Amino acid sequence: MFSSLRFRLPALFLLGIVVSGLIAAVVALRLFQGYVLIRSKADLRREAIGLTEVFAQQAITANDTGVLPLISRQLERATGDRLFYVGVSPFPDKSVKSVGLEVLPQKTVDWHSGKTITFEFTPPGASKTYVAVARPLKLEKKGPAFGDLIVAKPKTELNQQLIPLLERLAIASLGGIIVAGLLGWYLSRRITRPVLALSRATDEIARGSYDVDLPQIRGSDEIGHLADRFREMAGRMSDAERQERNFLMSVSHELRTPLTAIRGHVDALREGVAEDPEARAASLDVIAQEGARLERLVGDVLDLAKLEAHRFTVHTEEVNMERLCDQAYSAFGEEARRRRIEYAKLFEAHPTIVSDGDRVLQIISNLLSNAFRWTPDGGRVQLELTASNGRVSVAVDDTGPGVAIEEQERIFRPFWSRDDSGTGLGLAIAHELAAALGGSIQLDSRPGQGSRFELILPSSAN
Ligand SMILES: Nc1ncnc2c1ncn2[C@@H]1O[C@H](COP(=O)(O)OP(=O)(O)O)[C@@H](O)[C@H]1O
Ligand SMILES: [Mg+2]
Repeated sequence: MFSSLRFRLPALFLLGIVVSGLIAAVVALRLFQGYVLIRSKADLRREAIGLTEVFAQQAITANDTGVLPLISRQLERATGDRLFYVGVSPFPDKSVKSVGLEVLPQKTVDWHSGKTITFEFTPPGASKTYVAVARPLKLEKKGPAFGDLIVAKPKTELNQQLIPLLERLAIASLGGIIVAGLLGWYLSRRITRPVLALSRATDEIARGSYDVDLPQIRGSDEIGHLADRFREMAGRMSDAERQERNFLMSVSHELRTPLTAIRGHVDALREGVAEDPEARAASLDVIAQEGARLERLVGDVLDLAKLEAHRFTVHTEEVNMERLCDQAYSAFGEEARRRRIEYAKLFEAHPTIVSDGDRVLQIISNLLSNAFRWTPDGGRVQLELTASNGRVSVAVDDTGPGVAIEEQERIFRPFWSRDDSGTGLGLAIAHELAAALGGSIQLDSRPGQGSRFELILPSSAN
């Protein structure tokens, strides 16, 4: 649970808020501490000015009367500060021995200077540090100082002023943490919910079921984008799986048809059903034909599988396209003559390209064989070779039935054939081969008027 995003995200969010709150509190406390110290020193200074006057008066009275009115305790109680004395005895000839204040060692402060001094010190025997202001005491206004009156406050007392501030800071932080926690929880829910749904969907896909149900995610942020792409990916995988299944079924079906024919004839021969030599020769012919078809079929399937797995080796060599087209063209001359098909070639360029000659020939022959297969007797077939912009184009035009718009994409899929005599692999292989050679096959066809299949190849292999 602690490693889940649902927990970690709000926890991190909260931690960030707490840390920044703590830093802000420490800075605020430090500032306030400095402010309190400055203000306390000013207060002490003000008090020292008033108290020295009172104390000087008290000393004058004591000098005159020989009696020291002990008002310093009352003063301490009234101000809440401690009072000390450093200096010589103001009553050298009198019976008054005490100054009525705690006397500090001479080294505590330099009272001879006659200046008001702000400083910090620890009285002998005490453990607390005091913030103090020492102010000179004089019997006459312009006369010399006989000592310093020290007004002091323990430092710990200053810190006590911070307590209310600390209390307020604590309340504010608690409020902030609650608000931040709620916000973090809400935000993390918004983020993690779709992520969790995606993660569950991945589990489903890993288990092999591609029809996952992903919740629609609002907004166009990264998560929404991820969900869209994921949905697309699941769809494609599902399609790929279906295609694979169909492919396997089609292959098995295609293989079984010639096998059934062969077995039928073999059985007939073995059982002696076909007695006369003519019937036996016919049976053997069928067996030979179907055997050849099987061989072709297996070869084609293998080619296609290799092409689709990109395990197809393409040779690169200089290919004289004119000679190659001529070679493909002549192979159908006899059939054209026999079926009175108007057969023409139109070579407008003489390009030499770097490619795999055998494979290019295979594609062109395939296109020509399809054209002849679908063009009725007395029709027209034309082979065209052109070159432009670093590309070579070989086009096969025919006056066959053409291909309906909705079938134009489908005919390039494996096992898509309009009649039983074909395997439906020819165009699929041609299409994959063209792609493997860095080119493509384009179809331009109007049903009822004929088709134009165009193989486009780059001049040089890439
Ligand atoms: N020149 C063409 N004119 C009309 N239809 C064509 C032509 N070439 C191919 N087709 C259509 O495309 C399908 C697939 O062709 P192909 O992959 O070569 O398989 P096959 O030739 O074994 O049927 C054919 O069955 C046919 O319907
Ligand atoms: Mg074909």
